[in-house]
Amino acid sequence: MSGPNDNYDPKQVAALAPEVIDGYVESALAAIAAANSTAELKQVRLDHAGDRSPLALANREIGALPPAARKEAGARVGAARGRVNHSLAARTEELAAAELEASLRAERVDMTLPVALAPRGALHPITTLIDEMCDVFVSMGWEVAEGPELEAEWYNFDALNLAPDHPARGEQDTLWVDPPSAGKLMRTQTSPVQIRSLLERGVPLYVVSPGKVFRADEYDATHLPVFHQLEGLVVDKGISMADLRGTLDHFARAMFGDVRTRMRPHYFPFTEPSAEVDVQCFVCHGESVGNPDAPCRTCRSEGWIEWGGCGVVNPRVLRAAGVDPDVYSGFAFGMGVDRTVMFRTGAPDLRDFVEGDVRFSHSLNGGAR
Ligand code: DAH
Repeated sequence: MSGPNDNYDPKQVAALAPEVIDGYVESALAAIAAANSTAELKQVRLDHAGDRSPLALANREIGALPPAARKEAGARVGAARGRVNHSLAARTEELAAAELEASLRAERVDMTLPVALAPRGALHPITTLIDEMCDVFVSMGWEVAEGPELEAEWYNFDALNLAPDHPARGEQDTLWVDPPSAGKLMRTQTSPVQIRSLLERGVPLYVVSPGKVFRADEYDATHLPVFHQLEGLVVDKGISMADLRGTLDHFARAMFGDVRTRMRPHYFPFTEPSAEVDVQCFVCHGESVGNPDAPCRTCRSEGWIEWGGCGVVNPRVLRAAGVDPDVYSGFAFGMGVDRTVMFRTGAPDLRDFVEGDVRFSHSLNGGAR
């Protein structure tokens, strides 16, 4: 059957002429080669291989050809589209590989570079030592007791046998809190916790009490207005000075290694008899004494280091806390914690303890024996 298109010659249909098809292919191949990214190539694909591209439009013309002409034209347009698609696929692969390579290069992570770590804090060396001191006593079954830093005059002085006109009150440079009539002060010692513990816990009692104490003192290399003490108190039946001696020896060895302690008679209102306790120098063990060739910085060649006060609990203190001194007796002691850190680590200046430089804390914690 012949129709109106019988004389239709593909060579004469402009859109299907071989040179036109070749022209489409060439311009497509040029555009593909010129695309520099997969994004650009996407547009090229739409323009040269999409539904509205010249080659797709030419393809549609084929259906209008007489059947005899369709095959040749179809093969030619098909081959042209094949070349374009092939070239598109090859260029896509090339550009995608280049883009992947570039992004890998840009996002490269060097695992060997040092990392900026957040600075780490450190426990304060006083906290560390207080923990260590308390451990010594807790491991013997004692309890740790705490009391307030803002204290009533009665606990800090009266109950500890320091009467209002007692000269020792003056020695402690008390920081009173307004109004004076309220009888409130910043505790000058940890000894008031003795009374609080006796009243709250009763007897028998084995407690240590670490904490801050306050005095209107100088601020220099060897004095701070706020410092730390560790108080110890035992009240039980049949407690004597010998128990105190043994406890302090044990404590000193736990702190300093193989050292002895010695007691020198002293006066404290809350103990009777009272003593100051020294520990043998743990660096020179006394060998620097009278030996100018081998001076010792830790004990200043004295062989002993002053450590704290101690004694047998004064019966008046027991009575103030409602304990019968005819049945119970006890011993007490108090040490300076800051001083202990200083001579254990050789830290020369107490002001470093309050300036808050974490490097100081790190160095002392690492340097402690
Ligand atoms: N509280 C005394 C002070 O600050 C130290 C002290 C001495 C405490 C003798 C005691 C003790 O428990 O028995 O100087």
